[in-house]
Amino acid sequence: MRTVSTIVAGLLAVAHPTNSFNQGAASSPRRHVAGARGAPRVRPRQAATLSEAPLNIVPAYEVYATVPPKAGKKERAKAAEKDSVVHKWVEEQDMSGPEPFGLVSEELAPFSDNIKELVETDNPVLSKAAKHFFEQRHGKRFRPTIVMLMAKAVAGNLDNQDTEMYMKQAQLGQITEMIHVASLIHDDVLDEADTRRGGEAVHKMYSNKVAVLAGDYLLARASVLLAKLECVNVVQIMASALDSLVQGEIMQIKSAPEDTLEMSYYLRKSYYKTASLICDACKSCAILGGHGINSDITLAAEKFGYHLGLAYQIIDDILDFTGTSEVLGKPAMADVSLGLATAPVLYAAQDSRELRPVIKRRFKEKGDAELAYNLVMDTDGVVRAQQLALFHAQSAVDALMELPPSDAQLALIRLTEVVLTRSS
Ligand code: FPP
Ligand code: MG
Repeated sequence: MRTVSTIVAGLLAVAHPTNSFNQGAASSPRRHVAGARGAPRVRPRQAATLSEAPLNIVPAYEVYATVPPKAGKKERAKAAEKDSVVHKWVEEQDMSGPEPFGLVSEELAPFSDNIKELVETDNPVLSKAAKHFFEQRHGKRFRPTIVMLMAKAVAGNLDNQDTEMYMKQAQLGQITEMIHVASLIHDDVLDEADTRRGGEAVHKMYSNKVAVLAGDYLLARASVLLAKLECVNVVQIMASALDSLVQGEIMQIKSAPEDTLEMSYYLRKSYYKTASLICDACKSCAILGGHGINSDITLAAEKFGYHLGLAYQIIDDILDFTGTSEVLGKPAMADVSLGLATAPVLYAAQDSRELRPVIKRRFKEKGDAELAYNLVMDTDGVVRAQQLALFHAQSAVDALMELPPSDAQLALIRLTEVVLTRSS
């Protein structure tokens, strides 16, 4: 009973933060100090407990928002000539580490099975709907894999398996996946998407009502599990991730016409909608691993999650233009049909000014979507969006360099490649 009331109090406290969204980097007490590879020594302390004081949570976007240096015309032409700027970047990285999914798949398996039990309810329809993406169409388990790898990376070379800390970190991975799946089920209702992960969306299989309830139910179960971690700081951080997801969705739906043209608005929205959950899960993972909230290790974990999350969303937005529905397992060209301007189209509009009114009217007139597609393909919109994703991938790798050397650190570097080169 005590844990449930703690989570409710925690969730209420962060649902309407008075201090979260108006603080700029200048007012943030946090400073990120770059360190040499392997410099910090990992000294795990006791697992964080219930007695932590309330946090002053500043969204990572306000701390880490940076843009890549502007490429000159010459560099842009050079980049556009290349087959793939992404593959060149990948070739330059140290990809000698273990395959990331393989490194933790065995350890992840019992937790994945456990999720199905956790979301069991007395109502068979709700139960089936909530379990759907944990059974047949479970996806890559990208988020739990990141959390498990981060748990190892923040422990350095210490053997952390079988410790209470590690169990809690693995549970955090489960919680993160449950929140993610809940958000996808709701997102497909909002976007009226028929397919997800190569199959029918939950609302198409059942109904909107069942899909909304199934998402709510997953969220509720995730909240109870979060409380059971018995770490108030982590409850606050993960609750603020929920707040951010909704904030991002609202930014997307409610953007003013002028906002739709702004790259900074797009990036901020992408942070709230996608990167915040990965970023907050990585930060929480370091805290559960016994690291201080403002320690170099925790900040490096947070920064990694922030940049990887943004790279992930930018690649997702590129694939919306370049991928096919069959490969993606969800509708292609969905963003433009939903009226959304993402990185490739925003870059294309910088060269083709006729795109600007089209973006502002949310591609509503006949022929708008086709015009947008053609201009993105005719300009270097995709290459420049790839370069933006690369900037964030490089920043994610730089953040990892502040963690002690380990196999998990190298596996996380390889994970940035997976993010950049994925086709679905
Ligand atoms: C996919 O975006 C959607 C998200 C990343 C987040 C959606 C968030 C909500 C619906 C807010 C509610 C949150 C919870 C926790 C229930 P997309 O539409 O760009 O990607 P897609 O192409 O995969 O659909
Ligand atoms: Mg969607």
